[in-house]
Amino acid sequence: MLSDCAIHPVDCVQGMQQIDPGLVDLAFADPPFNIGYQYDLYEDRKGSDQYLTWCREWIAGVHRVLKPDGTFWLAIGDEYAAELKLLSQEVGFHCRSWVIWYYTFGVNCKLKFSRSHAHLFHFVKDPKKFCFNTSAIRVPSARQLVYGDQRANPVGRLPDDTWILRPQDLPQGFQAEQDTWYFPRVAGTFKEREGFHGCQMPEQLLGRIVRACSNEGELVLDPFSGSATTLTVAKKLGRRWIGFDISPEYIERGRSRLAAAQVGGRLDGAEEPLVSVPKTADGRTLESRKQKGTRKRGESRQPAKSAAKTQKPLPLPPDPE
Ligand SMILES: C[S@@+](CC[C@H](N)C(=O)[O-])C[C@H]1O[C@@H](n2cnc3c(N)ncnc32)[C@H](O)[C@@H]1O
Repeated sequence: MLSDCAIHPVDCVQGMQQIDPGLVDLAFADPPFNIGYQYDLYEDRKGSDQYLTWCREWIAGVHRVLKPDGTFWLAIGDEYAAELKLLSQEVGFHCRSWVIWYYTFGVNCKLKFSRSHAHLFHFVKDPKKFCFNTSAIRVPSARQLVYGDQRANPVGRLPDDTWILRPQDLPQGFQAEQDTWYFPRVAGTFKEREGFHGCQMPEQLLGRIVRACSNEGELVLDPFSGSATTLTVAKKLGRRWIGFDISPEYIERGRSRLAAAQVGGRLDGAEEPLVSVPKTADGRTLESRKQKGTRKRGESRQPAKSAAKTQKPLPLPPDPE
């Protein structure tokens, strides 16, 4: 049996064979998408059949090591989302949510709509018995924040299954406290970027998944550790972790990142958004209504600055197609 609280330098299929069956509480996998991405060692352009055969192998490995009430989250791009959903179900998983993660700082394309989302599948082994800590992930509702409705549930509501920022709701630009599921991709200029892995996931995104689908002290697995985001978040949130990667460089740097992280430490990136505010037709929130109350009659509202003027220009990653 491999030790936990470690990243192991081994192919994940082989690595998972060395984990006892039914040991892991939560697995998060962000595999190569088979789109020709440049990794340190992995060749990311395989024949479709070869890629899918490999995916079946590692997904079956995840299924084997998960506890009977365990959870599996899978991040994947458009190209193979449908195939991997079916394949995971064939292996024995049940899909609870098909989340779209919409990120800004997306990949600029020349002859098609620019890539700005990924798919996040929430699978469980047993559709009747699984961990879902609703109180850890609730957000304030529009009833609370926009309408001040006395009937609002005081503990808020569960977030949507689209993890999104709606730019039309945010004429002043992307501000962390103004949206709910806005997790920007960790773009090249971001402070939190570790700098050695182009696919680094945001810690806040993993934070929601780890909080919702595992408890303190439980074991979190990432078969494709990369920059060790999942494992770092697991550590900060008081879980045990285990990960695999085939790149010695990513592993070494991932280990340093983990060593620098503290149990109970703050997650990087924008804080968990505090509000989920679909604004009313004229863009008002409860807060803006209060401010309006202090304005004299006939006094005009501040004109909303245009998004184009207030947003920083996006640093565009290389165009892959
Ligand atoms: C998309 S990246 C993961 C990024 C990660 N989620 C993060 O936040 O940094 C995929 C990783 O899988 C690794 N990889 C590719 N094939 C692998 C295999 N057979 N076993 C383990 N890791 C593998 C690559 O080296 C790469 O670091």
